[in-house]
Amino acid sequence: MNPNLHAILKEADQAILRHSINGYRGRVRCGVDLGTAYVSLFVLTEDNQPLVGTYQYAEIVRDGLVVDFGGAVELVRKLKAELEGRLGFELQSAATAYPPGVPIAEVRATRYVLEAAGLTCSALVDEPTAANAVLEVKNGAVVDIGGGTTGIAIIQEGNVIYTADEPTGGTHFTLVISGALKIPFAEAEARKINPEEQTRLFNIVRPVMEKVGTIIQQHIQPYPVDCIYLVGGTSAFKGIDRVIENITGVKTVVPGNPLFVTPLGIAMNDQLS
Ligand SMILES: Nc1ncnc2c1ncn2[C@@H]1O[C@H](COP(=O)(O)OP(=O)(O)OP(=O)(O)O)[C@@H](O)[C@H]1O
Ligand SMILES: [Mg+2]
Repeated sequence: MNPNLHAILKEADQAILRHSINGYRGRVRCGVDLGTAYVSLFVLTEDNQPLVGTYQYAEIVRDGLVVDFGGAVELVRKLKAELEGRLGFELQSAATAYPPGVPIAEVRATRYVLEAAGLTCSALVDEPTAANAVLEVKNGAVVDIGGGTTGIAIIQEGNVIYTADEPTGGTHFTLVISGALKIPFAEAEARKINPEEQTRLFNIVRPVMEKVGTIIQQHIQPYPVDCIYLVGGTSAFKGIDRVIENITGVKTVVPGNPLFVTPLGIAMNDQLS
C-alpha cells in the first residue's frame, strides 16, 4: 500500500477547507468525479499533493449513467469556478472516470460534460483503477461503496484483473433509515452521515451492509484475496468494515477517510500537457 496514504488523505481534507494557495504557480492536475450522490473536483500539484477540492450532493448520475446532462454541466462549471477563485488561475483540463461495466456511449457522455463545462478531458479512467492510483494496493480487492453502486476490483501484482459494479450503495442506506424512522429522505441522509447518530442507526442499516458484504463475497470468491480495502463515502459508516469482514471472512480495512480516494485518484490521472 502507498506509504504516504494517510498524509495524502489528510491533505485532501485540508484541500476542501483551503481558501487560497499561497502563490503556487506550478502545473496542476484536476479530476472530476461525477458520482450518484456527490460531484467532486480536486486539484493537485504536479507531484500529486492536494491543493484545493470541493464537492456537492447532486442527483445527476444514476448507476454510472449521466441522467441530467444540463444539470451536470452547470454543476461542474460552478464547482470549477469556485476552485479557480481559490486557486487564483483558470483550470484547462481534467481527468474523469466511469464505473466498470458502463457502456462506451455513456462513458462518452461523461467526457462531454467536462467539455461543455470548459475543461479539456485529458483522461478517462475506470474508477477502481483511479482509486488504486491513491492506494497502490499490490494484491487484494478494492471496493468502492459509493452512493448508488458498489464497485469491486481485484488487484494482482498492482494490476486490475477483474471489475464489477452492483447497484447497492449509500442511497439504499438512506432509504432504509427513512422508512424505518418515517422521516423524509433528506433528513435520513443528514442523520446517516453524522458520526454521532451512526451507533444508533447501526442496527437499521446492518442488513444493507450485510447485502453489500454478500455481493463482495460473490465477486471475490474465485480469487485469492487476503485483504479488502474499502473506499467511497459509504465506507465511512462506522462499523461497516467489521460487518463485511464477518460476511466475507476476509480481513477488511478502511484506509483513512474513504470519501476522497477515488476523486483524488481521478485527478492523479490528469495528463499534464
Ligand atoms: N460519514 C459518512 N458516513 C456514511 N455515509 C457517508 C458519509 N459521508 C458520505 N456518505 C455517503 O456516501 C455516499 C457518497 O459517496 P461517494 O461520493 O463515494 O459516492 P458517489 O461517487 O457519489 O456514488 P457512486 O460511486 O455510487 O456513483 C452517499 O450515499 C453519502 O450519503
Ligand atoms: Mg463514486
